Amino acid sequence: LPKQPLKGRHVLVTAGPTREPIDPVRAITNHSSGRQGYAIAEVLAEAGARVTLVSGPTALPAPPGCTRIDVETAREMLAACESALPADAAICVAAVADWRVREASATKLKKRPDASPPTLTLEANPDILATLAAHIERPSLVIGFAAETGDVVREATAKRARKGCDWIVANDVSPGTTTFGGARNQVDVIDENGCEVWPELDKHAVARRLVARMVEWFASRKGQ
Ligand code: PMT
Repeated sequence: LPKQPLKGRHVLVTAGPTREPIDPVRAITNHSSGRQGYAIAEVLAEAGARVTLVSGPTALPAPPGCTRIDVETAREMLAACESALPADAAICVAAVADWRVREASATKLKKRPDASPPTLTLEANPDILATLAAHIERPSLVIGFAAETGDVVREATAKRARKGCDWIVANDVSPGTTTFGGARNQVDVIDENGCEVWPELDKHAVARRLVARMVEWFASRKGQ
């Protein structure tokens, strides 16, 4: 096997949560730690790829050999991803906030004893995965993740079609799981041929297996 099977490839990875401001001190965010996305970025770099890691706020150091671009909001994440194109592959692992506050306050919202709590009006954020999958500079391989709580495979299969990505990596984020934030993950990988059930693994092992699958995919398309 070649030592650096992805040498010459550029891969874009999103990771971590986004943070959508409510006012200067408050935000809408989620519990993504960035661990799964960072592990994938690290393994891609080890495989010789040039890696652009577009990351929301996490406590993790940049993986060796990756170019990390730090962002906060979904709109910043999208802009950073679009400027990173062209890429041979994109992997969207970030837990992007689906909604943002329509008008974030420039000043801190005050709690007044006589006033009722503020109402936040939300509006939709852009979908980064769907945008990349429909982009004029679409990477040849676009991979999404799906964080589900119900019928994981069914929901993720529908999400794959809706978002136009090639593969979707589904994981269960129901209460009681530690998919968000934990060290391990059990995923199902869905492509046009169906669904592969992977055992529960350390997130680095999930990353290694996913990158090996990408290497195979690129190798099988050589010369096409
Ligand atoms: O960071 P960790 O603590 O290690 O946790 C890992 C993880 C659980 C966050 C990760 O494995 C995962 O499932 N990431 C996707 C989380 C998510 O937002 O899933 P979703 O089903 O809401 O979104 C589906 C896909 O669309 C994802 O690829 C997501 O990145 C993408 N998306 C979603 C909304 C949006 N506005 N833009 C997007 O690109």
